[in-house]
This record gives sequence, C-alpha cells and structure tokens, in this order.
Amino acid sequence: MPRLAHTPPSAGEKPTATRDKLRKSLLSWYDRQGRKLPWREGGTHSDPYKVWLSEIMLQQTSVAAVTPYFLRFLDRWPDVFALAAAEREAVLGAWAGLGYYSRARNLHAAAQMLARHGFPKDEAGWRELPGVGAYTAAAIAAIAYGRAANVVDGNIERVMARLHAVETPQPGAKPQLRALAADLATPRRPGDWAQALMDLGATLCTPRSPRCSLCPWRSDCAAFRTGSPEGYPRHAPKPLRPERYGAAFRIERDGLFWLIRRPERGLLAGMAGFPTTPWRARKWSRREALERAPAPRDWRRIGQVRHVFTHFALTLDVYAASAGPAGAGWWGDASILPTLFRKAAAL
Ligand code: ADE
Repeated sequence: MPRLAHTPPSAGEKPTATRDKLRKSLLSWYDRQGRKLPWREGGTHSDPYKVWLSEIMLQQTSVAAVTPYFLRFLDRWPDVFALAAAEREAVLGAWAGLGYYSRARNLHAAAQMLARHGFPKDEAGWRELPGVGAYTAAAIAAIAYGRAANVVDGNIERVMARLHAVETPQPGAKPQLRALAADLATPRRPGDWAQALMDLGATLCTPRSPRCSLCPWRSDCAAFRTGSPEGYPRHAPKPLRPERYGAAFRIERDGLFWLIRRPERGLLAGMAGFPTTPWRARKWSRREALERAPAPRDWRRIGQVRHVFTHFALTLDVYAASAGPAGAGWWGDASILPTLFRKAAAL
C-alpha cells in the first residue's frame, strides 16, 4: 500500500516527489493513450459483471484473443442471471478455443453463486468464488469498486523490474516486485492505475522490443539507463517442457465429427473431443495406437498435430475413418472443440 508522505523511502522505493511525478505522468498518459476496450466502457466504476467476466477471460490470455469471446458472451448472456441460468454445456461450447477450460466451469459455478448472493464489494469476498485468485480479486476490487488494491500481473512485474533495474531473477523477484508496485500505487484512481500499468506493459514496455522513446517513465527508468531495458526482468534458466505423445481417432461424415465428452478430471476436462489413446512420454506405434481405436475400421493416418500446454507439449498422430458412430458420443462440428482437436479437425 502507498506509504505516507513523511515515511522515508527504503531501498528500491522512490522518494515522494519522484513517486508523485511517476503517478501523474502515467495517469495522464493513460487518459490520452489507454486502450479503449469493451469491458472498460463505463469508466471508473464499471459494471462488475463485465469486469469479472473480462478478468476471468484475460487470465493467461491476450486482449486480442479475449475481445471477440467477451463480446459474444455478453451478447448471449448480458448479465449474471442469464449466465447462471445457461446450460453448462453451452458455456463450455462458447468458451471453446480460448483455452484453460477450468475457467469456463468455474465461471458457470461462480455465476450461480453471484446470482444468488449478489456481487461482493471487496477482495476477500471475491476470493471465495471459484476461479478467482489473488490477482483477479484485486483487479475486480480496483476496477469495478475503486478499492485500493495492489494489482500485479506479469506485465506489471516487468514494468517494476525495469523501472528499478531489479537484478534478482524471476520468479524469485516476485515479492520484491509486488512491494515496489505497492509503494507506487495511488489510492486516488486504483482501477485506472492498475489498467494504466497493464497498458504500459502491453503496449510500450513489451518483453522483447520496448518502445522507450514513447514511454512516460523513460527519464526515471533505471533499466533504460543501462541501455538494455529488454534484459529485465532477469530470468533463471527455464526447465525444459516435457514431450507427450498420443493418437486421436477422427470419424467424419458429411462435415460432422464423432465426438466424445472428455473425463471430468484432468486436462480439457468436460470438453468435447475426438477419442484418443492416453497421452504418455513414449511414442505410439501404429499397432499400439489402433489397439486403442474406438472400433476396428479402415484407419488412415492423415498427419500429426502438436499443441503446447503449460506443463507439456503434446504430439497426436491423427487417424481418420469415414463410417458410422463408435461407442457413446454424438455428431458435432468443429466449432465446439478446444484448439488441440480443432487442429486435428483441420487436417
Ligand atoms: N489483463 C488483465 N486485466 C486486464 C484489463 N482490465 N485490461 C487489459 N488487460 C488486462
């Protein structure tokens, strides 16, 4: 939280005059250059339904990918009561392609709680809802309710690491970067402040080629002075992402595919998909894969798809057949499939 004016700054924190200048210059940049995004309509105190929905969608997903989904959701379910009354299948289907599908399940469960009990007004209340972590609760409290909250995402960490040229490598620097963000946060316009930092991180203070010449903080930025601002935040070497392998079985008839509902636990839980073998660390031979096929038929191997999940990368051999249904499932089109299976549908 912001320090009082007479509190002496400690290491890394800015003296009061600098802090005031940084606050003013960023908010004035945001007023002029902030992105006009659909969930920001309504200004300082936005509709909590829109703020909540957008923040859930924006978890680990870019503004560009989220925008059309946000608009479609709002069109179809204009308020929390409509979303709460929707079929879960419809919500999962509308989420298809956006990734991290537990968000859609949690969104639907949370909508029912919100419709029954109303919207919480503070961070602690939001934290109780499924799918709402510390970051999202802080963002909603600041943006929808004007509460002073320390909103810190990856973009904001990067901005703080550069402003102060923090040498501690990530992810170990997180507590330090949070403290620096808290020191600078202004209680005056908390929602605008958080979103101004997000916009600075997303549009100018970008990971690879920061556009420092346009930055309102250039003259106070320690990383800019080093001449290599893109070198911050420092990073510990990354562990390699493991590889996984599987086979998928695509049965097609008249442009429709034979789909199954995936198990309720694990990756892509509850989503529609093609039948697959288990996913494992060792490759599957054709013989091994076809032993797991839904029914013996004229399987042709039509190619491979690769999809990178957070914790592993998956390569699926795709086998195709055109024939009648196989086991429990239904005929559906590719629009309700998560990206992994859309890739297989497009082969
Ligand atoms: N990422 C997370 N929340 C955001 C917001 N409100 N605006 C832009 N990007 C965001």
